[in-house]
Amino acid sequence: MLADTTQIRLASIAGAGSVAIAVGGFQALETALALELGVPLIKKHNKGYDFLLRFTPEGLGLEPIDGRSGAVRVDFAAGKARHRRVFGGGKGQQVAKAVGIQGKVRPSILDLTAGLGGDAFVLASLGCSVSMAERQPVVRALLADGLVRGSLDIDVGDIVAAMRLNKGDALSVMAGWHRGQFDAPQVIYLDPMFPHSGKSAQVKKEMALFRQLVGADEDADALLAPALALASHRVVVKRPRIAPDLAQHKPTYRLEGKSNRFDIYVNSSFDK
Ligand SMILES: C[S@@+](CC[C@H](N)C(=O)[O-])C[C@H]1O[C@@H](n2cnc3c(N)ncnc32)[C@H](O)[C@@H]1O
Repeated sequence: MLADTTQIRLASIAGAGSVAIAVGGFQALETALALELGVPLIKKHNKGYDFLLRFTPEGLGLEPIDGRSGAVRVDFAAGKARHRRVFGGGKGQQVAKAVGIQGKVRPSILDLTAGLGGDAFVLASLGCSVSMAERQPVVRALLADGLVRGSLDIDVGDIVAAMRLNKGDALSVMAGWHRGQFDAPQVIYLDPMFPHSGKSAQVKKEMALFRQLVGADEDADALLAPALALASHRVVVKRPRIAPDLAQHKPTYRLEGKSNRFDIYVNSSFDK
């Protein structure tokens, strides 16, 4: 049972101080997540927070407390993820070429900046095994919830079974392997947040949320050297078209997309 107070304050977490969990009909889940994240459970809207995490029958969602947009949740079986899986161009996609998918080659991938798992799901749906890291605790909770629901889904359960969310941030996850270890990743994938001017008018709901919650990943340069030391075959960095090279390190080659590019740092080529 929850204590009969409108608000249970727990220790606040770094980086997500403006998030609370809405008390609804999922007490066990709500309490466990509040303890895990160290954020308050609240019964009424409270202007002291920017975002509410809420469990519903559709899963865990994050919504702005002012109601200016709907909830963001991870749903691998529906919406954008389903559309891309069914109509998205398969192996012809730039991201697939970037990680080296060709012929029978399906590299093992370590996605160190997993976010809500969009790119990881695309790569898993093309047959890669994808290990992931996500350091922002609220984003991680949304991703973990999506993975649990996805694993139970008849259409995407097999794909989600090839995705694994590690504990810890990118550097600590990389520290758990060394190159040459039998299960070390062949490809490391990096898609850190890039500081934007803030002037682009229409920012999608998910991206707007990321900007507010995650901010810019100013420390992303530090990921490149250890990633290059660990990945047996290549490191792939997704960047906005206009962004400078990560860590000012020129890639082996680039693939240009509509608004993004993929910078590819080759350690060794795949046997076809
Ligand atoms: C642009 S988003 C990734 C989006 C993702 N590729 C997708 O398709 O949904 C970047 C994410 O990387 C995470 N991140 C940045 N640096 C990290 C690090 N050192 N360790 C783990 N996660 C990190 C951020 O918290 C953020 O959620």
